[in-house]
Amino acid sequence: MGTKTRKKHRKFKIFILIFSLLLIIGISIFLLCYYVFDIKTKAVIITHMWGHPCEMDKIIEICKKYNLFLIEDCSHAHGATYKGKKVGTFGDVGCFSFQANKIVTGGCGGIMITNDEEIYERACLLGHFRNRCFDSVKSEKYSKYSNTGFGLNYRIHPLAATIAFNQFKDLDNRIKIRNKNLNYLSKKINDCFILKIV
Ligand SMILES: Cc1ncc(COP(=O)(O)O)c(C=O)c1O
Repeated sequence: MGTKTRKKHRKFKIFILIFSLLLIIGISIFLLCYYVFDIKTKAVIITHMWGHPCEMDKIIEICKKYNLFLIEDCSHAHGATYKGKKVGTFGDVGCFSFQANKIVTGGCGGIMITNDEEIYERACLLGHFRNRCFDSVKSEKYSKYSNTGFGLNYRIHPLAATIAFNQFKDLDNRIKIRNKNLNYLSKKINDCFILKIV
């Protein structure tokens, strides 16, 4: 066998080796994802970033298919809607931060919404104890924990709650102002000859 043919053979072998390795890695990743997703995953958390609702139809389809809880982080999207329905009401749980930059803010804190009684009671016990839990946690399974909750204290500061509560009354106007600012900035960016919004 000539030197040229030997070199060709060696290159071919290296190519086959790399190709096989990539194939094995690809198949392993696929199997790992498939089984981890199928067996271990319990919930999906989505974030409606920058006020833009996620593609809820597709997400709900996946959650139904794999029997997954759906948690919506609506911290950027207070009052936003997807196909006419408010974000936060699609999943099992909706969360809204009231951190200082949010459209409704109390400086800190936030709210969680759910229409699932068990999740509601568990959330109360996670964040609170005594009076709030005596009022809210009614089931036999969980009411025995009401005096102490689950030992944590995630209550919002009353002043923050009051500020946020009042800002909610102005939500539509706040959304209008943000939209106006967005349109203004988008126009200015598009007017600039080197920039384009895609
Ligand atoms: C999308 C999103 N989720 C969650 C949070 C956390 O909120 P908090 O600071 O109220 O815990 C933030 C805060 O900036 C956020 O932007």
